[in-house]
Amino acid sequence: MQFAEPTKPRQESRVTLESPRVRRLGILLSGRGSNFLAIADAIAQGRLANASIAVVISNRRDALGIAAARSAGFTTEVIEPRGRKRAEHDAEIIASLMAHQVDLVCLAGYMRLLSPEFVRAFPQRILNIHPSLLPAFPGLEAQRQALEYGVTVSGCTVHFVDEELDHGVIVLQKAVPVLAEDDEHTLATRILAQEHVAYAEAIDRVISGKYRFAGRRYVAVQTETE
Ligand code: GRF
Repeated sequence: MQFAEPTKPRQESRVTLESPRVRRLGILLSGRGSNFLAIADAIAQGRLANASIAVVISNRRDALGIAAARSAGFTTEVIEPRGRKRAEHDAEIIASLMAHQVDLVCLAGYMRLLSPEFVRAFPQRILNIHPSLLPAFPGLEAQRQALEYGVTVSGCTVHFVDEELDHGVIVLQKAVPVLAEDDEHTLATRILAQEHVAYAEAIDRVISGKYRFAGRRYVAVQTETE
């Protein structure tokens, strides 16, 4: 369940100069790709250390995000469903992620449900970001759902992906107030700004391996040296 190798005893960790292994991320997207770019920036700026982007995969040829990834020099793949069954399409994506030795899959505006086979291929190794405070407003147009419901606080959630939609264990959430003058666009824009901070932070936590699950709860674990 943990990512990093078990924490070394205190004495040993003081003398070792080895840096922790860099975790290879596989990004899946379908659209404009701003979350992907925020993750890439966080890595480039050293806010997200010990991670690298191994591959960016889109299920849509025309996704702006895949064009951005290509021009930034990342390894990219377009894997379209082409009328195939979900499991068959997913099998091709899984094969690509495996070929690129991906440790952690990050869904970043990936607009397709994953098959159970996909989820099982990367147990507790898939993250998603959703623009609401789950479990409120899962599914599409979460910002519109929040406005229509009349909540005064919404936000975003980074969570592990399980076989149910927008349902896995929550790594972190960021709250965003809903203002009286908000429309869907202004609310979505303010939530998106928080998403860009939240995703890198959540990836950093997960690749550190310093956590455990307590039922549905993600619990940070302190190591001896902290
Ligand atoms: C984000 O709002 C994300 O929460 C949702 O899809 C949107 C993707 O935006 N899952 P982008 O493609 O990352 O800009």
